[in-house]
Amino acid sequence: MFTYHMDTHIEFGTGKVRELADILRHHDIPPRLLVVTDSGVVHAGLVQPILDNLSTEGYTCTLFTHVQPNPRDEDCMLGARQFAETGAAAILAIGGGSAMDTAKTIALLAASGGTPAQYADGHLSYAAVHPVVCIPTTAGTGSEVTRSAVITESSTHRKMTLKHARLRPRLAILDPQLTLTVPPSVTAATGVDALVHAIEGYTCTVSTPISKAFGQAAMPKIVAALPTAVSDGNNLAAREDMLLGSLLAGLCFGNADVAAVHCLAEALGGLYDTPHGVANAVFLPYVLRYNAEGEPRLHAHLARLMKFATEEDSDEEAVLKLVNGVATWTRKLGIPTLRALKDVRREDFDQLVELAFANGSNPSNVRPIGKSEYRTILENAWNDQ
Ligand SMILES: [Fe+2]
Repeated sequence: MFTYHMDTHIEFGTGKVRELADILRHHDIPPRLLVVTDSGVVHAGLVQPILDNLSTEGYTCTLFTHVQPNPRDEDCMLGARQFAETGAAAILAIGGGSAMDTAKTIALLAASGGTPAQYADGHLSYAAVHPVVCIPTTAGTGSEVTRSAVITESSTHRKMTLKHARLRPRLAILDPQLTLTVPPSVTAATGVDALVHAIEGYTCTVSTPISKAFGQAAMPKIVAALPTAVSDGNNLAAREDMLLGSLLAGLCFGNADVAAVHCLAEALGGLYDTPHGVANAVFLPYVLRYNAEGEPRLHAHLARLMKFATEEDSDEEAVLKLVNGVATWTRKLGIPTLRALKDVRREDFDQLVELAFANGSNPSNVRPIGKSEYRTILENAWNDQ
């Protein structure tokens, strides 16, 4: 028995963004938009052509660029005020996960009031949400098709997950051409995030046959395409595979959950502002090793699926190849180790353990995991062993 819900309309393809006005009209998106993006995306030259095109087509757009890499609650509240002041009726998000999560939260606050914490803590219901249109410019978060937004509470550094079917964007427009200018380090980090979404969405305790089908399609695509997308950013075929892989991974975990890698990554991101994909990558091999000890057959299957191992390998060999293969794969992408990250201190491990354990996705990990296990994984990641 399972439920799978998805009501985001998806448009995918090179040049799709040029059809934006037609797509918006076809889906009755009101012509007064708050455009949520970040200054990096603006400087990359991705936003202005879209605004020019929309203006020609009769759309009124107000730009909102208060988006930070780990999006903040106060920026969402500022955005909600700006939404009301400008008389906007819908939101267009152009950017990575931070822009899209900020946009989804603004759409909620502008329609239903309150603060992000009041929703995350269950004190307010997700009564209404304004329409959101997402144009991802990185291949990673899958936020364009998910029902969640991860927002940091500035006062506590706590990462809060707002989750409700109404938070799903109305439209997702995916154009691989927009991802060509993403620098190698961001391509690598966001790409690893996508792989973790597929792995955790597939393996977690609340996965479904439909989520597993999407995850199974996403994993080999991402493992094969990401090294090329990082080393040869202009390779449109690799960029297309990554954007599709990220979308499939979003469709996988978007109706299931993430798990222990994200619990640790969100703890790290909340405390040090570590980019989300990097934070995932530094823990992935160590969580895989822990989970594989409890679920060896499942992880041997994952190893063969991602082509880190073959059918000839025994389950034991396949698991070893998975853990080592993923670690080597992330290193080759230029992802640093936990110890090499700026600001991370061993003295903070107790706090990181508490934050990871308190994460709402902790119970979804395929193997039960407690504070002492999180501590061991942190030590292993720190000592790179
Ligand atoms: Fe993620």
